[in-house]
Amino acid sequence: MMHSFSRSSSFSFNRSISFNRRGTPLSVGSPRVNARPTWVYRHFPVITVVGYLGAFFLVICASYSFFVPNLKLSFHGDTSLDTSASLDTCNLLDGMWVPDESYPLYNASDCLFAEQGFNCLGNGRKDREYLKLRWKPRHCNIPKFTAQKVLEWLRNRRLVFVGDSMSRTQWESLICFLMSGVADKKSVYEVNGNRITKTIRFLGVRFSSFNFTIEFFRSVFLVQHGWMPKHAPKRVRSTLMLDKLDDISNQWVESDILIFNTGQWWVPGKLFETGCYFQVGDSLKLGMSIPTAFRVALDTWASWVDHAVNQSRTRVFFRTFEPSHWSDETRRFCNVTQYPTPETQGKDQSVFLDIASNTVKNMIAPVTLLQITSVSAPRSDAHVGTWTDKPSVADCSHWCLPGVPDMWNEMLLSYLLL
Ligand SMILES: *[C@@H]1O[C@H](CO)[C@@H](O)[C@H](O)[C@H]1NC(C)=O
Ligand SMILES: *[C@@H]1O[C@H](CO)[C@@H](O)[C@H](O)[C@H]1NC(C)=O
Ligand SMILES: *[C@@H]1O[C@H](CO)[C@@H](O)[C@H](O)[C@H]1NC(C)=O
Ligand SMILES: *[C@@H]1O[C@H](CO)[C@@H](O)[C@H](O)[C@H]1NC(C)=O
Repeated sequence: MMHSFSRSSSFSFNRSISFNRRGTPLSVGSPRVNARPTWVYRHFPVITVVGYLGAFFLVICASYSFFVPNLKLSFHGDTSLDTSASLDTCNLLDGMWVPDESYPLYNASDCLFAEQGFNCLGNGRKDREYLKLRWKPRHCNIPKFTAQKVLEWLRNRRLVFVGDSMSRTQWESLICFLMSGVADKKSVYEVNGNRITKTIRFLGVRFSSFNFTIEFFRSVFLVQHGWMPKHAPKRVRSTLMLDKLDDISNQWVESDILIFNTGQWWVPGKLFETGCYFQVGDSLKLGMSIPTAFRVALDTWASWVDHAVNQSRTRVFFRTFEPSHWSDETRRFCNVTQYPTPETQGKDQSVFLDIASNTVKNMIAPVTLLQITSVSAPRSDAHVGTWTDKPSVADCSHWCLPGVPDMWNEMLLSYLLL
C-alpha cells in the first residue's frame, strides 16, 4: 500500500516537471521579429496581445492535459487530499491498516462525552501504536474531513444512533471528534443534563451554536422485550417479541440520519441463560435458533423502515457486527495485542453480518450497510482489555476511544458528505 502511494506520487511529480519544461518557452510569448521593423512597431500592441493570448491558450491546454491525470492519480495515492471522487467505484473493504502520525482525532481525557470505561490512555494504557493507524482501501482514501466541515454540514440536522453499547461508543466517538472543532465547549451539552451510564435509554447531545443534536437510543435487540407470557413453562421469564419493533421506535422517525446496529446481545448468555426466549405473535418459539430469530427481528426492523421512515428526509444506515477478540469460547480471557493481527481467523465474517446484508438487499427503502466487520477484524490491539472502569476483568468486545469506532464514523461521514 505504501509502495503504490509513493509510486503514484512520484509519477505525478515527474509529470508536473515535464509540464514546466514545455511551458517555459511558450510563456515568454513574444514573436521573433527581424524584418519589417516599422510594421512591427506599429502593430506591436496587437502582436503582444495575440502572443500572450496564444501563450495563455497553450498553457491552459497543457495544464488541462497534465493536471487532470494528476488529479486522478492523487485520488489513488495522496493521503491528505480531501477527495470528492465517488466511493461507489472503490471497494472500501479491500485495504489495510497503515501507520498515520496524524491520528488520533481527539483526546478522550479532554472530551466530556467519552465515558471513562473507553478511555484506555486515561486508564493507564502505555503503548500508543494502536492510536496511530488509518484504514487505507487499496484504490482510494477514506477522506479525512475536518471537524469544522462536518459541524457545518450537520447544521439544523438530527442524527440518531440506535443500538447497544457499541452504538454508544460510536456516538461518543463522533461527538468527541466534533468537540475538537468547537471553541466554546459549554455550548455542547446533554439535553437532559444526564450522565452517560450503561443502561440509560436516551442521551441527546446538542451542539447549540450549530443547531443540531446527536442522539443515542439504547435498544439492544431493536425489537420489544416483554415479561413472561401466561401459561409459559417455568424456565421462560421473558420474551423477545420478534414481530414488534421496540416501543420507543416512534422517537426515531423524525430524524435526518438514522444509524442502527444490533448483534452483541444475540448470544445464549444474554438470552436463554437468563430465561429469555423468542415469541412471534402469541406463540412462544422455544426451539427457535438465535440466527433465525435475528433474521425475523431484522425483517421486522426492515418493514418498519420501509413504512415508517420518510425516505425523502431520512438517510438510513445499518452498521454491521463488531468482531471481538476473546482467547476462549467462554469470553472470559483475552490479551489485547500491541499491533493488529492480520490473520483474522474468521473474525472478518459473522452470521449477523450475512443476515443484515441480505435483509438490507431486499428492502424497498435505500439503506446503506456500513460494513465494519471485516475492517475491524484485524484490530485485536484496539480493545479496552483491562484499561477500563472495571480493570479486574478483561474486555475484548469494547473498543478504546479514540480508536476503531472513529473509523466507523469516518466511513459514515464519507457516505454522508461526498
Ligand atoms: C490528554 O489530555 C490530558 C488532560 O488535558 C493530558 O493530561 C494528556 O497528556 C493528553 N493526552 C495526550 C495523548 O495528548
Ligand atoms: C434549527 O433546526 C431545526 C431543524 O432541526 C429548524 O426547524 C430550525 O428552524 C433551526 N433553527 C434555527 C435558529 O436555525
Ligand atoms: C418527508 O420529508 C420531506 C422532506 O423533508 C417533506 O417535504 C415531506 O412533507 C415529508 N413527508 C411526510 C409524509 O412527512
Ligand atoms: C496473556 O498473556 C500473558 C503474559 O504474556 C500469558 O501468561 C497468558 O497466558 C495470556 N493469556 C491468554 C488467555 O492468552
